[in-house]
Amino acid sequence: MQGIANTQAAEAWNGWEGVNWAQNAARYNATVTAFNDELFQAAAIGEDDRVLDVGCGTGQITLLAARQASQGHVVGIDISEPMLERARADAAEQGIANIEFEQGDAQVHPFPDGGFDVAISRGGLMFFADLVAAFANLRRGLRSGGRLVFMGPQGGTPDSDYARATAALKPLLHEPSPAARGMGSLVEPERIHEVLDAAGYADVSITPVKALMDYGRDAADAAEFILSQGPARFNLKDVDQAVVEQAREELRAGLVPYETSNGVLITGAVWLVEASQP
Ligand SMILES: C[S@@+](CC[C@H](N)C(=O)[O-])C[C@H]1O[C@@H](n2cnc3c(N)ncnc32)[C@H](O)[C@@H]1O
Repeated sequence: MQGIANTQAAEAWNGWEGVNWAQNAARYNATVTAFNDELFQAAAIGEDDRVLDVGCGTGQITLLAARQASQGHVVGIDISEPMLERARADAAEQGIANIEFEQGDAQVHPFPDGGFDVAISRGGLMFFADLVAAFANLRRGLRSGGRLVFMGPQGGTPDSDYARATAALKPLLHEPSPAARGMGSLVEPERIHEVLDAAGYADVSITPVKALMDYGRDAADAAEFILSQGPARFNLKDVDQAVVEQAREELRAGLVPYETSNGVLITGAVWLVEASQP
């Protein structure tokens, strides 16, 4: 991997949280797959396009992009080697050849100048210590008229379905896990505009998108999954086992209202951001 500016993120995403994500890729994907249609509609990837997927993780949307750019080429960049290993294995298994995965810090990675027609990201652009530098670096990699299309989380509100369903955990989650630091850096549309303007983008638009996020087969399974994720594991590691068990049961009960015949489905909200290289 060439230079790294975000050493904290690199350590976190190459540590136990990145490994956990890679080992449970299907479960993490299930939470966000319902957002894919809107992302791909906005990205409008052509069959000859050169596409960059930033913070591609285990590569679900990188692979989808490669199928759309069937005569083009797709590069997935991520700072996490365990997650990239999963992505490379899936690409090989699916026989997708017009794809390449590179380990790197997207804030400083030497992308080829104007080398991409479209840059996409699903939740991979919030973790930079210097957001303006990172987005400027990505812009440099886009050709004139090239487009950036990404999704990132909206700020959580106390009356959201997720907050209601997971209220039992709230008093126990005191700080973000190492990989989740930066997760909230682009939740305000004003901040997104400020960063993209300063990074030199044109035609910035920000649209709210909602979709059903699938957390598991039933409430008990979803509670297990949420407790296995970085934020819960990090904050609960030194908590008394009896308290954890009580939280698990209360969490399960909080998830019951969201059980459906298609799994535990909770509405999530993201920003769909579009911008272009002048
Ligand atoms: C929330 S995950 C999203 C992964 C993937 N886009 C998806 O939708 O499944 C965030 C990803 O950003 C990556 N990441 C964090 N900081 C990064 C950086 N500075 N450069 C490149 N990737 C980074 C992480 O390793 C992780 O794979």
